Amino acid sequence: MPTQPTATRVVLASRPSGKPVAENFRLEAETVRDLAEGEVLLQILYLSLDPYMRGRMDDAKSYAKPVEIGGVMEGGTVARVLRTRNAAFDPGDIVLSHSGWQSHAISNGSDLRKLDPGQAPVTTALGVLGMPGFTAYAGLRNIGKPKAGETVVVAAASGAVGSAVGQIARIFGARVVGIAGGREKCDYLRDVLGFDAAVDHHSSDFATALAAACPQGIDVYFENVGGPVWSAVFPLLNDFARVPVCGLIAHYNEDSSVANSHDQLPAVMRAILRKSLTIRGFIQREFADQRSDFYREAGAWIAEGRLKHKEDIVVGLENAPEAFIGLLEGKNFGKLIVRVAS
Ligand SMILES: NC(=O)c1ccc[n+]([C@@H]2O[C@H](COP(=O)([O-])OP(=O)(O)OC[C@H]3O[C@@H](n4cnc5c(N)ncnc54)[C@H](OP(=O)(O)O)[C@@H]3O)[C@@H](O)[C@H]2O)c1
Repeated sequence: MPTQPTATRVVLASRPSGKPVAENFRLEAETVRDLAEGEVLLQILYLSLDPYMRGRMDDAKSYAKPVEIGGVMEGGTVARVLRTRNAAFDPGDIVLSHSGWQSHAISNGSDLRKLDPGQAPVTTALGVLGMPGFTAYAGLRNIGKPKAGETVVVAAASGAVGSAVGQIARIFGARVVGIAGGREKCDYLRDVLGFDAAVDHHSSDFATALAAACPQGIDVYFENVGGPVWSAVFPLLNDFARVPVCGLIAHYNEDSSVANSHDQLPAVMRAILRKSLTIRGFIQREFADQRSDFYREAGAWIAEGRLKHKEDIVVGLENAPEAFIGLLEGKNFGKLIVRVAS
């Protein structure tokens, strides 16, 4: 009998108040149990770190259940099948799973999708060819609907979702302006991804620079951020502008029960009416029936060099909490992934 591996995992030790801190997480170890008939043992190779995980740390009502105190932090993963008692899987198969922040997991196979490492690097299943890439595609195709010549602005533009939004909008013929934090990220948007302009939201003249970068106003604003970025974008929206509201990362560490002193709601509501705006929130999975279109189209764009991506890989599961805290502060540059094993 092979010896049972020891699984390490990161659990939610306590709920954060404001920004998460290291003490909100705890590293634990446990011997993996035997497999039952139909199950597979997975060794996690890569863990995706995503902004939505901040919401799972709170107990507030949301579209998804929170992680319980003491529970394993949730997350998308790429894993290798180590052992199997399920005829559909062989040892060595590489799969996409949702195993969370841990080194090993047991699955009955129903939640696994086999990946072909010969077709694309397996990490792309967590980024440009995974949930973030699909989010960009679905939000643009269904809500943003950019037309040739229109101006599309995207926030958190160097990240997993934003970088795909900008490049897909350019493929659709739009003029694209990215908003990102810092010069290096802005240079990357213009020089590597081919954005028409990039504006640094940390700069003191951000609102003026954004207006200058959008002389024809904004027809589509892909909202990933909220906060001061939204305040700068909002006056520039053209009549009939569309705003896919994908994420509001600037607000994820806020206590939603505390009222904000700067109430923009009346102005926003007036503009929705006067400018016939479409402001539509979405969670990518509502468009799940378009995933096969996405794999086909995005696969072709990558092969043609029109859809590029950048990964920010952190080594070691024990470093996941620090990397995740950094994500909420803009420290990642590209799709943030933890290499758990090789
Ligand atoms: N609706 C959905 O189904 C769905 C699915 C996936 C993701 N999302 C949302 O999409 C957004 C982007 O996700 P992602 O996975 O692509 O993450 P990401 O862009 O790779 O990383 C987050 C980035 O957000 C920016 N940021 C953080 N705090 C900020 C602040 N206070 N103000 C302005 N920018 C800030 C930082 O970039 P800078 O350094 O450039 O500021 C940071 O690197 C998030 O809001 C996420 O929740 C939604």
